Amino acid sequence: MQALTRLALAGAILLLLRVGASAETPLERGAYLVKTIGACGNCHTPRDAAGKPIAGRELAGGFEFDDPGVGHIVGTNITPDKETGIGNWTEAQIITALRDGKRPDGTLIRPPMPIPVYRQLSDADAAAIAAYLKSLKPVRSKVGEAHYTVPLPPSYGAPVTQIAEPPRDAKVAASCPTSASPAR
Ligand code: HEC
Repeated sequence: MQALTRLALAGAILLLLRVGASAETPLERGAYLVKTIGACGNCHTPRDAAGKPIAGRELAGGFEFDDPGVGHIVGTNITPDKETGIGNWTEAQIITALRDGKRPDGTLIRPPMPIPVYRQLSDADAAAIAAYLKSLKPVRSKVGEAHYTVPLPPSYGAPVTQIAEPPRDAKVAASCPTSASPAR
C-alpha cells in the first residue's frame, strides 16, 4: 500500500498549502489546483519512455503502473472527450466524482485516486476544478483496463453535501483538521 501512503502525504500537503489569492477567477483557481497541489497529472497524464509527460496529452489518461497488493492501475482520461473521456459529465457529476468517488453510472472510482483527501475540497474549489476540466481541449484517448486484487469498499462514506470555504486569513492549522498543531 506504499502508493496509498504516498497519496496520503500528497493529500496532507494539498491541505497544508490551501492558501489562495482571492482575486482569482474560478477557472484560474481550478487550473492552479489541478496543475500544482492537486497533482492530477501525476496519474492522469501519460509519460514517454523517459518519464516525461507527453506534450498535448495532458490529463488524457493511459498512465499505467502495477502496485503490488493493489493491482494494475490505469489513470483514466479526464479531458472532455465525449467518447473516451468525461465530456458527457456535468460539472455537478464531476464534483460528485471528486468528493464521493462515484461516476454518473454509480461505479466506484478506485484507489489510488485520493478520494478521502478530495472529500475535503470546499464547494468552491471542487466547482473550480470541475469548471477547469470542462474547459480543457478534448483529447481522444481510450485507456486500458485496470485490474484490482485488493478488496474495495462499497463507498467512501455518506455523500458530501456542503463544505464551506475556509476563511482565507485563517491559520493553516486551524482550517486543516488533519494536520497536527504547530509547535509554539
Ligand atoms: C495518485 C493517482 C491519482 C491522482 C493524483 C488523481 N487521480 Fe483521478 N483517478 C486515478 C485513477 C487510477 C482513476 C481510475 C480509478 C478506477 O479505475 O476506478 C481515477 C479516476 C478519476 C476520475 C473518474 C474518471 C473515470 O471515469 O475513471 C476523475 C473525474 C478523476 N480521476 C479526476 C481527478 C482529478 C480532477 C484529480 C486532481 C484534482 C485527480 N483525479 C487526481 C488516479 C488519480
